[in-house]
Order: sequence, then C-alpha cells, then structure tokens
Amino acid sequence: MSKNKLAKFAEMADFKNVVQPDDVSFDRTPYILRGKWNDDFFHNSNPLTLELGCGKGEYTVGLAQNCPSGNFIGVDIKGARIWRGAKEALEQNLDNVGFLRTKIDLIDKFFSENEVSEIWVTFADPQPKKQNKRLTSAFFLNLYRKICVDGARIHLKTDSRLLHFYTRALLDANGIIPDFVTDDLYTSDYKGVAVDIQTFYEKMFLAEGKKITYLNFKLAKDRQIVEIPKFVGNL
Ligand SMILES: C[S@@+](CC[C@H](N)C(=O)[O-])C[C@H]1O[C@@H](n2cnc3c(N)ncnc32)[C@H](O)[C@@H]1O
Repeated sequence: MSKNKLAKFAEMADFKNVVQPDDVSFDRTPYILRGKWNDDFFHNSNPLTLELGCGKGEYTVGLAQNCPSGNFIGVDIKGARIWRGAKEALEQNLDNVGFLRTKIDLIDKFFSENEVSEIWVTFADPQPKKQNKRLTSAFFLNLYRKICVDGARIHLKTDSRLLHFYTRALLDANGIIPDFVTDDLYTSDYKGVAVDIQTFYEKMFLAEGKKITYLNFKLAKDRQIVEIPKFVGNL
C-alpha cells in the first residue's frame, strides 16, 4: 500500500464522521448503530439519504450543503476515496454528513427497517458480466426495500448505457414507472441536484465526451422485485 494511502487511513481513524467496522467482510451480528443513526450519530430525527458507491462522496457532501435539514451517509468499500469527502465535510463543519466503509451487499446489517428515506447510486460499476452485482439489480433493490421507508426515492446517475437501460427494463418488468428518466441529462429539461452536483467519475466521463443518463423512481416496500433474464438490450 502506498505511503499516501497509509497516511490517509491513519488520519481517517480519528475522523468523527467516518465509521469503519473493524472487519469489513463483517459477521452476522447487526452493527451497533443499526436503527440508531439518527439518535446516536446525527442526534436529530431528520430523514436519512444514502449515496451508494460514493467514492469521494460528492453527492453526500453536495446534498448535505443543499439540505441542512437532512442527514447524508456515503457508503463505499474504498477508504482512500471516502477520506476525500469526509475531510471536506469536516472542513466545512457539515454535521449532517457521515461515511460508512463497508460492502453495499451488507447494507441491511447497518441500517434497520424504515431507517432510510432516499438513495443515490452514482456512476456505479456496470458489471457487464454479473447482472445481480449491479447496484440496481433485483437483489440490491430488494435489500434497499428492507431498509427504506415505503415509497423511498431511488436515483441512478450513470454514463453506462448498459446499467441505465438494464435498470429501465427491470423497472418496466416490475411495473414501476420512473418519475423522471433521460438518456442524455444535459440536453434534457431536467433541473435540480442531478445536474447541480458532479462527481469525480462524472467529470472524467464528460471530458471523454460521454453522455450522462439519469432516472429516479419510488420503491414500494410491499412488492418484491423480480429479476429479468440476462439483459442484452440494443445499446
Ligand atoms: C466508478 S466508482 C464511482 C465513485 C463515485 N460515485 C463517482 O461517481 O465518482 C464506483 C465506486 O463504487 C464502489 N463500489 C462498487 N461496488 C461496491 C460494493 N459492492 N460495496 C461497496 N462499494 C462498492 C467502488 O469502491 C467505487 O468507489
């Protein structure tokens, strides 16, 4: 591991806004803050938004700046990336920001039933070969159903046309109509945080001339999401 990374990890161990379970592969015991993020971490009862695969946490920090009456947690397995967002939040005295270092696959071990109000998935790995590893697959949406309030809004912003059109096909097969959908965000009539905040990866993709897609939808608690056959959309 590089010296730079080691220094970041050492510094981050003292960050009050970062939670890193010792064993990130985790065990079967629910995490100590599960069901208690508002009471024991944020010390308020504001609605909680997660950014999954947050990298440097641009949405976590940007949304928290825009909305002081909400709580925001960025989740990623890579500590050196989380360090950037956590440091910025501390420098800006944003006490409505937290970062959790873990695998998203374990998210229901860290949050309890109805604890989360909204989720952003930003530039997630498209996982071309492993459909069920996509962060909007039926497997993950059913995990999110467990921890979200009924009708929680899920946002997907990505350059990957595979991930975008796969998600649309999955929603369609499950009778979910997105509230907003575009395969070219910056020529669409959308106005709001999906254009106001840009992530590290997004800036790279824009510089390469790629189009950015975006959609959001509400996730019902009482309806199991069923996976679709291998998606080979005409991209
Ligand atoms: C392509 S990067 C995007 C980062 C950031 N959202 C951005 O737009 O700049 C994808 C991120 O998702 C994280 N990630 C992917 N799968 C994950 C998983 N199952 N659990 C935790 N983190 C994951 C990676 O560590 C990586 O930081």
